[in-house]
Amino acid sequence: MAVLHIVSALCLLAACNAIYLTRHTDCGGHGTVHSILLEPCNHEPCDIHLGQTYTARINFTANENSHTATNKCKGEIAGSWVDFPVTPSNACGTGITCPIHKGETYTYTASVTCPTDAPSVRMVGQWSVLDDRGQNMICFNFPLQIVK
Ligand SMILES: *[C@@H]1O[C@H](CO)[C@@H](O)[C@H](O)[C@H]1NC(C)=O
Repeated sequence: MAVLHIVSALCLLAACNAIYLTRHTDCGGHGTVHSILLEPCNHEPCDIHLGQTYTARINFTANENSHTATNKCKGEIAGSWVDFPVTPSNACGTGITCPIHKGETYTYTASVTCPTDAPSVRMVGQWSVLDDRGQNMICFNFPLQIVK
């Protein structure tokens, strides 16, 4: 029920301008990603505007225990990875009750802001959640189009 409310809140805010990503690829986490809902986005690759904030709702199953869960997002710009700030960076408490238990499925929400100085290019974004050993709990790459 809580999750349904999150979806309708996203839809109300953005006139349902949200899609489930289909073009993401795994970049080596020990957990399994089931779905990623990104808002606002209405086609892939998503148009990402400079300075705008995007909200992702991620559903995944953990495959290791962890006391912590830390969000990271970065984009590959001209061959090097640039950090995209994620709020909150601590994924515990945004739909995830930590500690994370192996075998449990979690759905949580976090927001990422596009840097204001990103070039207007098509690029790869990488979202990951780190466990308490600094390893990827989940990791996925997804195509983005930065738009000025
Ligand atoms: C998360 O994904 C699992 C596996 O596909 C599904 O059974 C479950 O209903 C999903 N949970 C939510 C909250 O969407």
